[in-house]
Parts: sequence; structure tokens; C-alpha cells
Amino acid sequence: MPFIGNINLQMKDVTGTGVAVRKGNDSVLCEVPYEIRILDAGFLSEIIKLQQVIIEGLPRGEMLQPFSESFMKEHIGKKGFILGVVSGGRLIAFRNVYFPDIDDPEWNLGIDLGLPENSLCKVANFQMVCVHPDFLGNSLALVMNRHAISILRKIEPYEHLCATVSPYNFWNIRILLDTGFAVMKLKKKYGGKLRYIVHMNLKNPDRFSSTPELQISLTDFKRQKELFEEGWCAVQLSGKSVNDYDACPNIAFEDTLKILEIGFVRQPCTG
Ligand SMILES: CC(C)(COP(=O)(O)OP(=O)(O)OC[C@H]1O[C@@H](n2cnc3c(N)ncnc32)[C@H](O)[C@@H]1OP(=O)(O)O)[C@@H](O)C(=O)NCCC(=O)NCCS
Repeated sequence: MPFIGNINLQMKDVTGTGVAVRKGNDSVLCEVPYEIRILDAGFLSEIIKLQQVIIEGLPRGEMLQPFSESFMKEHIGKKGFILGVVSGGRLIAFRNVYFPDIDDPEWNLGIDLGLPENSLCKVANFQMVCVHPDFLGNSLALVMNRHAISILRKIEPYEHLCATVSPYNFWNIRILLDTGFAVMKLKKKYGGKLRYIVHMNLKNPDRFSSTPELQISLTDFKRQKELFEEGWCAVQLSGKSVNDYDACPNIAFEDTLKILEIGFVRQPCTG
């Protein structure tokens, strides 16, 4: 059964606070307090504005699947929830969670992963995560992921947490792996965009070997596809980002892509 009810009322206690460092245009750093909340529809226009800021700054356009305002609105209420990081009344980051219909081939990622039909009603998605450029580097995405998981663990019936991520989006791949996801598949989604599909079992966490058996270049998609088809999954991203983002962000991004490797293990042990 899908989640029925008002998550905002049920989950008031699941909020958090923290302090983030803001990097302004003048490169002056300052610390600001924030709180994490489940957002209501009053934040919709801020969510859309923040999404637009992020889209304009992406090194590759295909890294993010933009959402319309009406689709974003669906996430607020019965079909999901959006966690927001709010500082001084301003939205500085958000993370969407979505409860897809069981027969939705686009958004029910359990279908892509070949989950049994009776598990498709237990699928929840991490849909989109955005952090305002002034607040990057505060691990806000990881913090929101952990909050969202603690919410999902309290509500029935969700068991399979899934997400898609562009294989070029090494920042978010690393965060998803640190959150506890494993990459299970690489395929085209959203009208031809290459995506990893990641999965985490919320009720019976998978146990993976902590040491990858194979390291593959992040951009060797052919070899990765073969490994996924043979039943391997990816659990680690290694290699350091080239750090000259302030001077030439696009070159730094492309250079980083060339040196990163993704670590594969065989499917998890059961039990
Ligand atoms: C994915 C994302 C939310 C992560 O943001 P975050 O939580 O601030 O990331 P982290 O705190 O883990 O950042 C770790 C490091 O990577 C850097 N980094 C993260 N995202 C970056 C980006 N988009 N551009 C440049 N550097 C980035 C941080 O500055 C930090 O560097 P440091 O260690 O030198 O301080 C952010 O990159 C983003 O909003 N991306 C655009 C939207 C997107 O692609 N979302 C995912 C698909 S839905």
C-alpha cells in the first residue's frame, strides 16, 4: 500500500539544525545556522528558482533531469516529500523523495532493476538534490539523504530506495555511495540520458565486500555495462577531484572525469 496521509503532520519531529559555511561572490566565508524541514507548497517557487540556478551552473546539461513546477508539486504531499535546508528564511538546498506508481516505467526504478511485481509498491525514489552554489562543500546533500532515510524507515511500506544519477555526476555518485547505495545498473533513461540506477534496501541492508575487486574508469561505460550484466555492482569511487574549480571549472570537471575510477564487487552476500 502506498503511503497515505499528511507526512508534514506525521513527521514534524524529524527535523535538524546545523551550521553551514557560505562562500559569497567576494570569497568571504561566513557561518550561517540552518534548519532542515519538510517543505510545504509555500516553498514551491523557491524550489523552482533554486533548481534554475543549479541548471545554469551545470558543467554538462544532461547531468540533471529538470522538473516542471507541477511535477515538483506532486512531491509535496501524498506522492512524496521534499526536505529543505532553510537559513534565515531562505532555501539553500533541497532533496526530493518520490513514491512512484507501481506501473510507472519512467519513475518506478524497481521495474528497471527487475524487482518482483509484489515489491514495486515498496519502492521510493531519491529524485533530485540541489545545493545552492554558495553552500557547496558543507555535505548538505549527505545530511539531507540521512534525514530522508530516517523518515522513510518510519513509514510503511517502503523497502527499496532507488535513485538515478548521471555517470558524469561524480559529486553526487560519491554522496550516494557514502549514503549506503550500490550502483546496480547503467542504462538510458529520460529520453536517452545515460544513468546509473542505485539501490539500497531499507529493511535488510545489503552487505557488500568493502574492498572492490575491480576498478574501472568512470567513463568506460562499455566495460561497466558488461559487469552489471554479469551481476556485479559498484560501491566505491576512487580518485581525487582536480581542484581548480574557481579558475576554470569546465576544464577541472573534464580532467577529474578522466582520473576517477569506480570499484566493483560481486552481488552482496545474503542473510
Ligand atoms: C550533488 C550536490 C547536491 C552536492 O552538493 P554538496 O552536498 O554541497 O557536496 P559536498 O559537500 O559533498 O561536496 C564535496 C566537495 O565537492 C565540491 N562540489 C560538490 N558539488 C560541486 C559542484 N556542483 N561544483 C563544484 N564543486 C562541487 C564541494 O565544493 C566540496 O569540495 P571541497 O571538499 O573542496 O570543499 C551538488 O553538487 C549539486 O547541487 N549539484 C547540482 C545538482 C545535481 O547534480 N544534483 C544531483 C542530480 S539530481
